[in-house]
Amino acid sequence: MSTHIGARPGEIAPLVLMPGDPLRAKWIAETFLEDARLYTEVRGMLGYTGTWQGHPVSVQGSGMGQPSLAIYVTELFSEYDVQSVIRVGSCGGMSPQVAVRDVVIASGACTDSSMNRIAFEGLDYAPVADFGLLRAAANAAGVTTGSTNGRAHVGLIYSSDSFYPARPELAARMVDYGVLAVEMEASALYTIAAKHGRRALTICTVSDHVDRGGDVRGRAGAHLRVHGRDRAGRGDRR
Ligand code: HPA
Repeated sequence: MSTHIGARPGEIAPLVLMPGDPLRAKWIAETFLEDARLYTEVRGMLGYTGTWQGHPVSVQGSGMGQPSLAIYVTELFSEYDVQSVIRVGSCGGMSPQVAVRDVVIASGACTDSSMNRIAFEGLDYAPVADFGLLRAAANAAGVTTGSTNGRAHVGLIYSSDSFYPARPELAARMVDYGVLAVEMEASALYTIAAKHGRRALTICTVSDHVDRGGDVRGRAGAHLRVHGRDRAGRGDRR
């Protein structure tokens, strides 16, 4: 086993789905995989391997935030020869282009984290998704021309270190530069995958919406106060 993952060599598939919530890992394994077997429960960060349509797939919780995710993906790449990690999580919509329950496929990740600032000693590294995974996900979601089909969007995500930031208004600036949504892990995932020559992607469902100038903790209620109804006119979509 590695320091934080209690799996023996060979127990983790080359492709890993990675939700933040370990109970979501359990749910994904039980709902979508056949013959799913628990390979780790160290610190309650559950990991399972099973098959999906005959293909081996693992699901591993990452915990919340870049430092936590970084521990798990580093060990998956360096000690279990994992080739691809796809984060499947939630995000807060930032851009008016996205609504609650839309899907954001993150082509790249901005961040306020100091992890890359320290690693690159002040140079700005640009963490991006693996293009093959990105293209496949976009095609599967029906984003075949442009960067959105109205419900699934391909674009930038903002990986924040704070769910409750001291200065929420700073993050709003990101929207002017094309950022669609905020979450807390993609930047580290993309950077660590690049370091190990592996593939990574982040696909997030918009679980809440951060309105510009509003409270970053704003939930669907805040979104709906401003936009009234979703773009399809369905009102509260939660
Ligand atoms: N902030 C950060 N991460 C998130 C959010 C948010 O508002 N919603 C879901 N993940």
